[in-house]
Amino acid sequence: MKGLNKNILLGITGGIAAYKMVEVASRLTKLGHSVHVVMTEGGRQFVTPLTFQNITLNPVETDLFTPPRHYEVKHISLADRAEICLIAPATANFIGKLANGIADDLLTTIIMASKAPVLLAPSMNVNMFDNPIVQENLTYLREKGYEVLEPGTGYLACGYEGKGRLPEPAELVEYLLRHLTVKDFSGKRVLISAGPTREPFDPVRFLTNYSSGKMGYALARAAAYRGAEVKLISGPTDLNPPLGVETIYVKRALEMKEAVDCLADEQDIIIMAAAVADFRPANPQKDKIKKSSHKQEHTEIKLLPNPDILAELGKRKRPGQFLVGFAAESRNLSENARDKLRKKNLDMIIANDISNPRLGFASEENQVLIMTASSSNQLPQLKKLKLADIILDNILHYQ
Ligand code: PMT
Repeated sequence: MKGLNKNILLGITGGIAAYKMVEVASRLTKLGHSVHVVMTEGGRQFVTPLTFQNITLNPVETDLFTPPRHYEVKHISLADRAEICLIAPATANFIGKLANGIADDLLTTIIMASKAPVLLAPSMNVNMFDNPIVQENLTYLREKGYEVLEPGTGYLACGYEGKGRLPEPAELVEYLLRHLTVKDFSGKRVLISAGPTREPFDPVRFLTNYSSGKMGYALARAAAYRGAEVKLISGPTDLNPPLGVETIYVKRALEMKEAVDCLADEQDIIIMAAAVADFRPANPQKDKIKKSSHKQEHTEIKLLPNPDILAELGKRKRPGQFLVGFAAESRNLSENARDKLRKKNLDMIIANDISNPRLGFASEENQVLIMTASSSNQLPQLKKLKLADIILDNILHYQ
């Protein structure tokens, strides 16, 4: 992601959800960030500092008065070094102390001294969370510029059902990454399609392809991190919707077309990463087709062509709108992609060679050729999120 290798401070206070922070620390470290964990006494009751030390490969700080390794004022140096702070879980006690200016341990003093953005992720029993004192403290902290993440609703460790769950690690990491990313797409409206379409024969069977949606979702996520207002039109996938992205779910190509048509005019950038089925069964049956009704050896299914959504967008493109298509090719990659670029009136095409079974459809990585009318840029094999960022860099460059 744009804006990697940051100094991130994770403050862990005394709640059972502290265990989730092990995965948060691990994910951030794997992404290349320098993660510094500070634990309160309560936090250490749930997870040991050694766990975080081994995961982050950085010392875990717990106490205001233990002498620092080098001479430095510990809370000031940790506060200065942090580019962002996430306090998770943030207990009612920690929130209360912060709201009242109490700095009586290492974590509260660091947060008091830090100029970095601070995200608070409250996690506690639903009745504690609903307590007017906690709510007033949170309102006050929001007014003072702290960002408060909404806790999730569901089963709580105390046995209650309700609001108070710490968001899942992947979501916490998304919040952080979004904050850390340079907002060079802010003010831009971006529409992205992702995933396969399903073209039904009958209520239980359909024609589809191997698209997992990963490429389109990575683009949506990266554009949202970079400040764009993103709408994602998604065929059926197993993926979680990216944070801060309005996701519209469709199944058939005709539904995808309707959703795209509805939103296209207001977009600055449109990226069609979806693998739209080119054909659909001509006579989808209302009832399940019975095996017994097809006794002959071969059964023929008539197909109708689906509309080419991207080609239609190319025809109605408004001035200033930037249209990006994908090309999934198994041979003559650059010639076929250049042909699609021209015929569909695109500004850019991302061509992937799908003859390699380890790349393209459903893989974590992809290798693409980015083409415009005047340029051609072959990229190495990369993770789809990294690739999404490079595609967005190219869009900014050529737009
Ligand atoms: O989803 P993943 O598992 O991450 O896989 C990613 C991907 C391989 C699906 C993606 O990288 C990709 O190549 N997407 C486009 C696949 C495709 O349908 O290519 P195509 O060459 O058939 O179509 C060319 C372009 O026209 C595409 O932008 C497609 O969205 C669009 N199209 C195609 C047919 C149609 N009826 N309407 C369209 O808009």
